[in-house]
Amino acid sequence: ALYPPPAHAALIVRSLPTVTAEERKKILEDVEYNVFAFPAALLTCDFLSDSGTSALVDLSMAALMRGDESYGRNWGYYCILEAFRDVFERGSRREYAMDRILTGKADAEFYLSKLLTPHQDGFVNGGRHQLERPNFFILPQGRCAETLLFSTLSAMIGKSTTIVSNGFFDTTGANALVAGFRLQVFTQPGLTDPFPNELVGKKNPFKGNLDLVATEAFLDANPSEVSMILLSVTNNWAASQPVSMANVRGAAALAQRRAIPLFLDACRFAENAYFIQQYEDGYGNKTIEEIVQEMFSFADGFTISLKKDGLANMGGVLSFRDQGMFAQKYEGIGMAMKERQIISYGNDSYGGMSGRDLMAASAGLYQVTNQEYLHRRITQIQSFGQKLQANGISILSPPGGAIFLDMDHFFFGCNRKHEDFAAVGFTLELIKDFGIRAAEAGPFGWAADLKSPEERTTIPNLVRFAVPRLVYSDEHIDYTVAAIKEMYDRRHTIPNAEITRGKHMKLRHFSAGLKP
Ligand code: F0G
Repeated sequence: ALYPPPAHAALIVRSLPTVTAEERKKILEDVEYNVFAFPAALLTCDFLSDSGTSALVDLSMAALMRGDESYGRNWGYYCILEAFRDVFERGSRREYAMDRILTGKADAEFYLSKLLTPHQDGFVNGGRHQLERPNFFILPQGRCAETLLFSTLSAMIGKSTTIVSNGFFDTTGANALVAGFRLQVFTQPGLTDPFPNELVGKKNPFKGNLDLVATEAFLDANPSEVSMILLSVTNNWAASQPVSMANVRGAAALAQRRAIPLFLDACRFAENAYFIQQYEDGYGNKTIEEIVQEMFSFADGFTISLKKDGLANMGGVLSFRDQGMFAQKYEGIGMAMKERQIISYGNDSYGGMSGRDLMAASAGLYQVTNQEYLHRRITQIQSFGQKLQANGISILSPPGGAIFLDMDHFFFGCNRKHEDFAAVGFTLELIKDFGIRAAEAGPFGWAADLKSPEERTTIPNLVRFAVPRLVYSDEHIDYTVAAIKEMYDRRHTIPNAEITRGKHMKLRHFSAGLKP
C-alpha cells in the first residue's frame, strides 16, 4: 500500500535542544574533534551506533519494573534462560512468555518445572546442570562475552591458532588477538560492487557471507591450524551485510568436516533472519522464529550483545551447546569460563547485569523477532538509502542493517586521497552544521595509514549511519538526507582531517585527537 498504517506510537518523548553551529564548533574543538566524545545531548540526530541506543517498548519497560535484585538466582535469571531457549531453540512463544514475565502468574510452577526437569543438550542448561556443566554465561555486554570465550579457549589450547571469520567486529578481533589467536578473514568477494537496482528489490547478494571456497582452501592447506569458524550475523565488519542460510549451512559443514566448532556472533540475528526471509529462495513462507531456530541449529555456540537484537540497553551472553562438539573437545571449558565470569563480572545468575536489565532484555528478545517490528526496522533503513540515492548520493547497495555512504563517490573529482581522511572531515562538518552524528568506517577507523599497501586496498572508504531501533521517524531521516545533500553540493569546501594525537592507539577512533 502507498500509505502503510503506522505501527508504533510514542508515549514518552524527549525535546531536542536548539544549539547553534557556532556552539557546536566550540565543543568540537574542546573534544579534540573526536566524534565519539561529542556530547549527545547537543545533537539533533545521532547515528553513531545502533548499540544500546534502542527505545524500550512498553512491555520491556513493564518487565523492567518486575526486576528482582536478589544476589543469588534472581527472577530475571530464569526469565532470560527461558527467553534464550524459546527464541534460539524451540521457537518464540511470545504471548505465553510475556504473560509469565509481566504477571508472574506461573512463577512457582515455572521455578519447579525448570529446577526439576533441566533442559539438556541445548544452549541453556538449567537446574543442577547449570552448576555441573555450565554452558550459559550472562555478561555486561558483547565484548565481555568475547573476552570470556577467547581467553578461556586460548588457555585451554595452550598454543597460538587461527580463527577464521566472515568479518570480525573491532572488539571481537581485538579480543581474539589479545588472547593470542591469529585472525583470518574471508568475506565473499564483491562487497563494494554496486547493485544499483536492488535496493529493496527481489534479490540480495548476501554480501556478508563467508567465502566458503577460500575458507576450504585455507583449511586444506593448514589442517590443524584453525580452532574455530566465527560467523558474524549480520556482518558488521562488511557494512552490516546479511549472511544467507546456505552460507551458515556451508560453514557448518566445513567446520564439522574439520571437527572444529562453528560459533555465531549473533548480535543482529533477528535482522539477519529477516533478510533471509525476504531474499533467500525457499524462506519466503517461513516465520522469523523458524528461520532463527534453523540458523542456530548449525551453531556449536554463540556470543551476543543484547544491546542490538536484544532490544535492550545493556547485556551480553556467551552460550555453547551442552554435550556438543565444543563442550566435548574442550572438556571442562564451561567450568573454566564460570570461574573467569565470577572473578571478573559477577556470579553466574547476573554476570554484571542488574536484575531489571535482565528483565528488559528477556522481554526484548521476544519483541525483536516480531515480523512487523522487523519489517518496519529494515524498510526504514532501506527508505533512508533510497532517499539518498534519489539525491545522487551513493551508498553501499543494497543496504544491510545500516546505511554506509560511499565516500570515494562522494568526493569524486575533489582530489582527496585516503590518507587525507576527508570522510572524517565530512562527519565533523555534519556535526557542526547540522547536529547529526555518524562515524567514519574507512581509512581512519581501520588505520589504513598503519597497514601495508596490500592490506590498504581491502579497506573501503565509508561513513556509517547506524539507525537506533524505534527512536527515529521519517522526520529525522528526511532532515538527515537534506543535510547530507547540502554537504554533497558543497563537498569541495569540506576540510580534510588530520590526527593530532593517539595515531598508534588500539581502536584509536574512540580516543584519538584530530583537527580539520
Ligand atoms: N559483535 C558485533 C558484530 C558488534 O557489532 C558489536 C558491537 C559487538 C560484537 C560488541 O558488542 O558493544 O555489546 O560489547 N557493535 C557496536 C556498533 C558497538 O556500534 O556496531 P558490545
